[in-house]
Amino acid sequence: MIKSTLLAATAATGALCAQGIPSLELNYDFPDFGAMLSADDYHGPVFKLSHDYPKELPKLDPEVDKILNIDFKTKWKEYAIAVRDYTFKDNINLKDNELSFTFSGEQAQKWFHVPWQHWGANGREGFHGLTKEGPLNEKQIAPTQTFATSAYAVGFYNAQGGYTIGQTWQNPSSPDLSYVSENGFPEGTVVAKFLFTTLGEDQVPQLANPVSWNAYVYKKDIPGSDANSNERVQTKVQLLQMDIMVKDSRATEANGWVFGTFAYNGALKHENPWKNLQPVGLMWGNDPEITLSNSNPEPTKTIINDKLKETVINDDASLPAQHLGWNSRLNGPADNPSSSCMSCHSTAQFPAISGIMPFLNNPPVEIPADGTDAGADWMRWFRNFDDSNTAFDPGRALTTDFSLQLSKSIQNFLDYSASIQQGNYAIEYWIDGKAVHSISRGAPQE
Ligand code: HEC
Repeated sequence: MIKSTLLAATAATGALCAQGIPSLELNYDFPDFGAMLSADDYHGPVFKLSHDYPKELPKLDPEVDKILNIDFKTKWKEYAIAVRDYTFKDNINLKDNELSFTFSGEQAQKWFHVPWQHWGANGREGFHGLTKEGPLNEKQIAPTQTFATSAYAVGFYNAQGGYTIGQTWQNPSSPDLSYVSENGFPEGTVVAKFLFTTLGEDQVPQLANPVSWNAYVYKKDIPGSDANSNERVQTKVQLLQMDIMVKDSRATEANGWVFGTFAYNGALKHENPWKNLQPVGLMWGNDPEITLSNSNPEPTKTIINDKLKETVINDDASLPAQHLGWNSRLNGPADNPSSSCMSCHSTAQFPAISGIMPFLNNPPVEIPADGTDAGADWMRWFRNFDDSNTAFDPGRALTTDFSLQLSKSIQNFLDYSASIQQGNYAIEYWIDGKAVHSISRGAPQE
């Protein structure tokens, strides 16, 4: 890892920046991406990791203050839209959408990426920093979807989150989990993530009037392509889903996190197409008392479970049918119908002793049949936590407070370190000689 300051910033720097020279301080701490066309073949905007993490805990943005004063239980939609629009502010470029969410200039001080997501076959591509995510099975998104593919996504944190990432990655060659595992993320942390798909309107009608990006993705994820090809190609991807996480101490059920998701609905025809992201719902706990099993993997309608007290779902007739999560807990279009946002994210810890979903655990816990009650082994993934420093496997791992990217960054870094040192670490053989779990949204490493 090299960090070299070639020239100190001078008054001239600002002028040069305006002309497009990004910075005189060259900072090579973290690679930006892992998969990219050669510079000869690509002339568009290149993804740059936003990693000038604040060294002091920043003051809360007044807009976040406002969000933290909206009652997320009684005014959930207002809350969700306020978070969405806070992340949109000054980040959308309607003239050239390829420049949306690139966090240059002032915005680079406000929004931050987690490093070490470039690593591995599913790591960040170089156009927009998209990582390959979990599978989108046939009919998961719409009854007309005949092609199974994968989602591609990029996430980012506001300054409160950026501070925490910086505490973890202060030393790029030696990450440190003590801050996050003891304190968790600070109040007012906002995280957002956009998920894209190669599918278009013909497969998924709600992707009409799309928000598209150019991306460098696996050819086999493109409808109609050769399913065995391991090649990446440039293609258009369409915005499908937006996820949010807000650290809000009023959410006492599960570590002070509120999770929310939006599904793209082109039928809304907003002038700014990013606003076609329609709220699906919020969750602030896992409803651990509700043990009945149910799932709706190929949705033709959204099934709302009125018994849930810690999930709220949009009952607006205009929302495209959603599969949601296990027994209708919150999950988005690209998520597994037998999980939930908070279920999966509660496993964020290092080392990843337990799988992100019960059936990916070692030993696996099978999905209980619809209409039956789940046992305690399954319900371990639907617990609530009342304390920021409780790990999913208490006493055996350090929590990263629901941030799966942060735990994944450590895991990827360890993987890399083991590979360059041509050795292994004992921590990779954590339980009974079994390897730790790979932290991914379900897509196996290719
Ligand atoms: C099957 C497991 C799983 C489910 C279900 C899931 N996520 Fe995630 N999520 C992940 C993983 C793994 C990552 C980290 C790697 C990545 O970005 O793909 C992640 C990343 C994120 C991030 C970026 C911040 C971070 O570092 O954790 C946000 C925000 C997020 N998810 C929100 C949500 C929301 C909201 C839902 C529910 C609508 C949800 N997730 C459901 C697995 C899941």
